[in-house]
Amino acid sequence: MAVIPIRTVPDPVLRQKAKRVKNVDSAIQKLIADMRETVVAASGVGLAAPQVGVSLRVIVLCVPKKDEKNEEYCLINPEIVRRKGERVLKEGCLSIPGYIGEIKRSEQVRVRGTDETGKEIKLRCEGLLAQAIEHEIDHLNGVLYVDHLESQDKLQKVEPEKQEPEESIQ
Ligand code: NI
Repeated sequence: MAVIPIRTVPDPVLRQKAKRVKNVDSAIQKLIADMRETVVAASGVGLAAPQVGVSLRVIVLCVPKKDEKNEEYCLINPEIVRRKGERVLKEGCLSIPGYIGEIKRSEQVRVRGTDETGKEIKLRCEGLLAQAIEHEIDHLNGVLYVDHLESQDKLQKVEPEKQEPEESIQ
């Protein structure tokens, strides 16, 4: 396994629409293992393959839970099948270091995809996990959270090392 350098704006790979994974082979499994190591090393909540320069529909999530083990998932070809509710929250991105912004996300999402063994998974999510899933699937479509800002004054400069998981760094 290896930590992969994270691409930051304005790297064009972040604006490409990522391709679907056709076969879950050993190359994909290695990519997922590396992405897991990378998201942990960056103290992130989630990571999408384009952020490590690979334009494929793969995301990993590592959501901290109070007094519990982190919630960890990897999703290949993830699709949101349902969104419910709306909330305003602060969000950051590992590809846009030093900023957080206030945007709207869904309260709950249902997502389906495949895991690294090729098995179909369906998740019902809320809270930080739902936010992270919307954020990472946006990455697969070349969308960044700053695209959802109502205005530029909803963007705020922060010290990257002082960012809290609640202001999820994804
Ligand atoms: Ni991001």
